[in-house]
Amino acid sequence: MAQGSPASALDPKSIQELVLCSHEAKKFAYCPYSHFRVGAAVLTSEGKIFSGCNVENSSYPLGNCAERTAIQKAVSEGHKVFKAIAVASDVQDEFIAPCGACRQVMREFGTKWDVYLTKPDGTYVVHTVQDLLPVSFGPEDLQKPK
Ligand code: THU
Repeated sequence: MAQGSPASALDPKSIQELVLCSHEAKKFAYCPYSHFRVGAAVLTSEGKIFSGCNVENSSYPLGNCAERTAIQKAVSEGHKVFKAIAVASDVQDEFIAPCGACRQVMREFGTKWDVYLTKPDGTYVVHTVQDLLPVSFGPEDLQKPK
C-alpha cells in the first residue's frame, strides 16, 4: 500500500517551491466554462514534482480537476508515494479547498500526507489527507474479510 510521510515533514524551501509550482500550473488551466483557474503540484517521495491544472470539457461532467490531473500525471509515470500536494486558485481571501472527488483520489495513495491549500499571495494552510477525508474508504478495505 502506498503511504506518504507524516504531516509537516517538509522544509520551508520545499514548501515554497511546491506552492509556487501550483500557482505556475494554474496558468495552463483550461476553464472556458467556469473561468475558475486551479493549479496543483504533487511532490513524490523521490522529490519529483508533477503539476496539473483543471481541464474542462464542453460535455461538463468530463472536466478534470487540477489535483487529479497532477496525481494522474505522477501515477502514469510510475510515482505513487506522495509527500504533499499544493493547490492554487485565484481566490484572494480564502484558501482553496479540494473537492470531495479529489480528496478520495488523494486518499487512494495514503492518508498520512500533506495538502497545502494556498492563496495567490503564497500563504497556505496545511492539512493531512486524513484531516480532509476522515473515516474514509481505501484500498485496504478491499482486502478485509467479508
Ligand atoms: N476545481 C479544481 O480543479 N479543483 C478543486 O479542488 C475545485 C474545483 C475546478 C473544477 C472546475 O474546472 C472548476 O474548478 C470549477 O469548479
